This record gives sequence, C-alpha cells and structure tokens, in this order.
Amino acid sequence: MGTRFARRCFLAVPALLGLLLAGCATGRLDATKPVGQEARDIDFLMRLSGWMAVGVGIFVAAAVFAIIVKFRAKPTDDPDDLPPQVHGNRKAELTWTIIPTALLVFLTIFTLPTVFDLARVNAAEDARTIRVEGQQWWWQFSYDLNKDGRYDIVTANDLVIPTGEKVNLEIESNDVIHSFWIPQLNGKKDAVPGRVHDWTIRSDEPGIFYGECAEFCGLSHANMQMRTIVLTPDDFERWVEEQLEGKAAAQAAPAEGSAEAAGAALFETHCISCHVVDGPYESAAGGNANLLAGIAPNLTNLMSRTAFAGALYETYQIGPDGEYLRNPDGSLKLNLAELREWVRNAPDMKPARADNQQGMLDFSEVLTDQDLDNLMAYLQTLGSEPVLPATNAGAG
Ligand code: CUA
Repeated sequence: MGTRFARRCFLAVPALLGLLLAGCATGRLDATKPVGQEARDIDFLMRLSGWMAVGVGIFVAAAVFAIIVKFRAKPTDDPDDLPPQVHGNRKAELTWTIIPTALLVFLTIFTLPTVFDLARVNAAEDARTIRVEGQQWWWQFSYDLNKDGRYDIVTANDLVIPTGEKVNLEIESNDVIHSFWIPQLNGKKDAVPGRVHDWTIRSDEPGIFYGECAEFCGLSHANMQMRTIVLTPDDFERWVEEQLEGKAAAQAAPAEGSAEAAGAALFETHCISCHVVDGPYESAAGGNANLLAGIAPNLTNLMSRTAFAGALYETYQIGPDGEYLRNPDGSLKLNLAELREWVRNAPDMKPARADNQQGMLDFSEVLTDQDLDNLMAYLQTLGSEPVLPATNAGAG
C-alpha cells in the first residue's frame, strides 16, 4: 500500500468522523438530552449499549493488533514451512459464543422491561389524551377537554402540554405512513393510515422541544416538522383559556369596511375550502370543523402558534441571541414578511406537488398585493400571542 494513500486515509477518517459528529450536535433534535422519564429510559439504554460496544470494539481491535504483531512473518521464516494445521478449537469457539451471548442477555435484561414500559399508556382516570394526526406534510393536534368526543382545541405544528404529566397520544395518519418523533420526550412512533397507535410523552421542565417526521413520506418529508411547547400547569391552563377565547373571538365579524373585513371576505372566497376557522367558517364542514381535518390546518388560533408551514417558519421574529423580538408595546414581533410570502406562493417556500394537488396552493396569480395585505390583517385577528415557556423560549 502506497504511503500517500495511507496518509490520505489517515486524514480522511477524522474528517469524516468530525462531519458525522457535527451532524449530531448542531441540530435541534437531540436524543441525548432527555427531559422526561421515557426519553431518559431510552437514553440509558443507548448509553449502556454504546459503552458495551465501545468495550467490545476496543477488545477486538487490541486482539487483532496483538495477533498481527505476534504472528507476523519473520525474516528467518521459511516461506514453504506452514504452521501446524488444526481443525476447530473448542476453547476458542466456546469463548466467542459465550461472551457475546452473555453480553446480549445482559442487554436484554435491561431492554425488555423498558420496551414494555414505553408501550404503557397513562391509565389514570384524569390522564390527558391528545389526538395526533400526520398528513403530507404537517402535524395536527386535537384536544378533547371534556372527554365528550368533540375536540375543543385543534391546532397544528405546536403540541402544547403541561410539565410533569404523562400525556397520552393517539397517533393517526390521514394519508401515508409518517413517524412521530420528539427525541427529548420519547422515541419514535409510526403514524399509519387506518390505525390508532398509543404513545406517551412527558417533560419535567418547561421549554420548546423540537421534533420531525421520521419516516420518509414524500417530497416535503424533511419539512414535516413540529415542536412541543411544554408549559407549567398554570401556564398550560392559561393557554387552554386563551385557545377557547380565541375560538369565541373568531366568531365576531370584523368591523365593516376595515382591512380585516376585506381579508375575511377573501378568506371566505379562497381559503375555506381547505382551512377551518371555528365559528364563522365551520359551516363549510357541516357544522363540525373536524370533518375538514387533514386537508389543511385549522387556523382558529393561528397567532397563538410559534410556527407555521409544518413548523418550517417562525410565526414571530427571533433575534440572533435566540430571544423573541418585541414591538415597543411589548408584543411579539410578527414574522409578517414570511407569512405573507407563504400565503402568496407557498410551494416556493415548501416543496409541494407541482399540480397543486397536495399542500398549500400557489396564489401568486390570484391575490393582489392589496388582497395579501387584507388577508394578513384578518389572519392577525385569529388568536392571541402564544403562551411561551418560562425557560428556553425560542431556543434554537
Ligand atoms: Cu411525514 Cu415524513
């Protein structure tokens, strides 16, 4: 082997390794920083098996090295003189069967109970259950507050939960197979059409924890993101109240002649065949907004979400230090430019089917600048600002 080639290989290995590790560390998805019991259990198993693999790897590499050195060809060797030829070696074979078996049994003892634990839903009577629906290419979350079979809050992209609660999820898909994954809260769970998969998430601390669809599901699979907004129980109650208030407020028609009213009229012409706003536009779905679920996000409390377009874009502007930017009056600074562009020509901002059969449509030929301004005015009436966690707000 040429020494130049060897040197290149020698340099390439750390470079590749560096790239790989950088890929793990720079993303917002980080399974190595669990914040709930389920994710911690998984993290423990990952570390346990990882360190065992490191041990085995070091042992094998050292043994290979020792054998190479010990049995290398010596200048005094006669090339025609073969070492003694043997068949089988009971001691060696038993060793390399028993040791790996013991290691796997050891790992199984830790893994099996965890596998069953993770599959266990919160059976407590007051346990919270949230319906999760995956579709190309965004996530919808529905809350049945009174457990009467009717969803009181329907939201998209932002999954809001309180701290310290093991929250049940009923994971479904409205089209193809997706996979729900918020690494810091639990492992992955497939969303399969025609099935309901039970899963749980839990966080001990408030914060924003990011997730993504983890099963290839078409063109914008990589853009099917989501986030969990974890609030203290008090903040969570406030969020619920504000969602219900937003729902009530959406029923009031904007003042006649205002930009909001013009926007509402445009919304009725162009948007309600896919989007729902509880109250005024529910009738489009025969009085039940949920009938339309799966086509496009319910926009009743749009302004209370931290992200739009499959959580690809921030609803509010974030400064370089990761903090939300605020207007002089203290309110959050809307990311109006991207929201407006999204409504104007969504496929440009998030790849969708070119034939307009999937995803938000291209309205660049339909809506004028004035129309867009009016629509923005109307959209800003939908819901109040998001309730943000006390810590880690806007991190990432
Ligand atoms: Cu949904 Cu990938």
